Amino acid sequence: MDKKVTVIGAGNVGATTAQRLAEKELCDVVLIDIADGMPQGKALDLLEAAPIEKHDASIRGANTYEASAGSDIIIITAGIPRKPGMSRDDLIKTNMNIMKNVTAEAAEQSPNAIIIIVSNPLDAMCHVAYDASGFSKNRVIGMAGVLDSARFRAFISMELDVSVENTHAFVLGGHGDTMVPLPRYSTVAGIPITELMSAERIEALVDRTRKGGGEIVSLLKTGSAFYAPSSAAVEMAEAILKDKKKILPCAAYLEGEYGINGLFIGVPVKLGANGIEDIIQIKLTDSENAALQKSADAVTGLVEDLKKLA
Ligand code: APR
Repeated sequence: MDKKVTVIGAGNVGATTAQRLAEKELCDVVLIDIADGMPQGKALDLLEAAPIEKHDASIRGANTYEASAGSDIIIITAGIPRKPGMSRDDLIKTNMNIMKNVTAEAAEQSPNAIIIIVSNPLDAMCHVAYDASGFSKNRVIGMAGVLDSARFRAFISMELDVSVENTHAFVLGGHGDTMVPLPRYSTVAGIPITELMSAERIEALVDRTRKGGGEIVSLLKTGSAFYAPSSAAVEMAEAILKDKKKILPCAAYLEGEYGINGLFIGVPVKLGANGIEDIIQIKLTDSENAALQKSADAVTGLVEDLKKLA
């Protein structure tokens, strides 16, 4: 393939991302993890599926970064889940250090790459990767809104018994309880859902979307969602690799847009070969804007916490 993507962290999200990239024949894939032999094993397993899945993408696993050199995109899913007895601060600190190290190593090998962050807490991890890479703001992008919007779309489609392909949704803000689903801009075949559902049903779907990650965690009991997160990361990667100029909600570094300064938060952006090629400023009502500012305050709090732990 003439494009190359490195996926860091070969756990559930990373391995599924590698699988989707290869099976869509978008690029060659390098899968990196600290676990000895694990990324190599998963890469080989994926490669052995290629004759049946009918793709010619190369998939390599590695524990170090040389193999990643010259990547067009770096997708970061590395991190550790909370262990018994570990405080939230310890967890954030550990994951912050992982993010810092893997970003620095990957950025050194691929100085022209575009970075897509998937690891949580998402918006805060984007700040860490932005600082550690030294890349321009258009080349550091967080995956959150595409996932949250896909969840909202799935719920809309189930509610109205229509094809998911007819649905469109926008979820802005931070990737957490304060996210801001926008029903006015969420449509079925172009018709706003506010014309198709009662305010109560919309609120129920919005609430389920906000708690979407937690709903999966409570069902799985160990681990968190990975099929939809990997789909979302791959949609972003595809838009960049194919220079599609696709408008998607992503975590972007804002400098005054939406009245927010110096913060990564989810907004609609145009994704193309240069990463974030534009930040789309849509008109928000007073209450939508207030919800976005509240979400920005929550992300600011997390970023401040992170600075204290650093
Ligand atoms: N370098 C490379 N890989 C690392 C490092 C490191 N320094 N530290 C941890 N990892 C790897 C782990 O070995 C593990 O294989 O990151 C992988 C994470 O995989 P999982 O534990 O399966 O987690 P996953 O479900 O894939 O989620 C990863 O994405 O959606 C987010 O909240 C989620 O932050 C989490 C991330």
